[in-house]
Amino acid sequence: MMTRDAPIGVFDSGLGGLSVLDAMRARLPNESMVYIADSGYAPYGEKTDAFIRQRSKAIADWLVERGAKMIVVACNTATTHAIGYLRSSLTVPVVGVEPGVKPAAFATVSGIAGVLATAATLRSDRLKALIAEHEARCRFVCQAGHGLVEQIEQGRLDGAIVDDLLTRYLTPMANAGADTVILGSTHFALLAATVRRLFGNRFALIETGSAIARRVQALLHEASLTAHAHAPGSVEYFSTAHSAEQRQPLVAIASRLPMSGPQLSVAYAHIAHALADA
Ligand code: DGL
Repeated sequence: MMTRDAPIGVFDSGLGGLSVLDAMRARLPNESMVYIADSGYAPYGEKTDAFIRQRSKAIADWLVERGAKMIVVACNTATTHAIGYLRSSLTVPVVGVEPGVKPAAFATVSGIAGVLATAATLRSDRLKALIAEHEARCRFVCQAGHGLVEQIEQGRLDGAIVDDLLTRYLTPMANAGADTVILGSTHFALLAATVRRLFGNRFALIETGSAIARRVQALLHEASLTAHAHAPGSVEYFSTAHSAEQRQPLVAIASRLPMSGPQLSVAYAHIAHALADA
């Protein structure tokens, strides 16, 4: 029997899901959360569908073993390739994230929106179907964010390389007339300030962290899983990156987020990988 005061398990291929975690903490301050970054195996966006599915399952199983009452897949790439599998194989509720195609279709005035996502998200049937559903209202200019996740995993949210990649990826969107850009990877949500510095108010930026937090709140309520606690919930951080040095960017970025407390530490989680094909 799941207790209401059990933590919510949140995972991403790495640091990107921190943008979702922060929105969840703002909305659900009494909930405890366990965040795990699969940084030892990132980026998912350049891996095979089978790899992404297997890794997502291994991480979700680890969270359930730690007593998570709900799983939040704070990764668009893992959601597009593994959410069905996770829902059919786990007994706890599973919430996923997907690029904000619908909000972008309603937000755009020019009728053109850019989609910056990982290669794996862009090739997924799930995203193609979502785009097809809204194509009558909006034209989508899609671009894979090759190289950006690797920079973010090293703690770089700006600087010469990130600025150059963003300029290269978003300028064609601006030239095509896009007035809205979907940050379709939770990693890219962490780049919002850099995009604004580079492009000013050229684009409305769409990310879905707070929508996911609202969805989590509603689902907890429906499943009678809302925490009883009247005190702030705790947050524990884990990473599959082996060395303390490799886990440092998680510490650095998490501590900068509005909802984080001081004294944040990240423990190593050993979660072996079963697949040989990646
Ligand atoms: N954070 C993940 C997402 O939302 C992807 C990053 C990766 O490629 O690992 O899509």
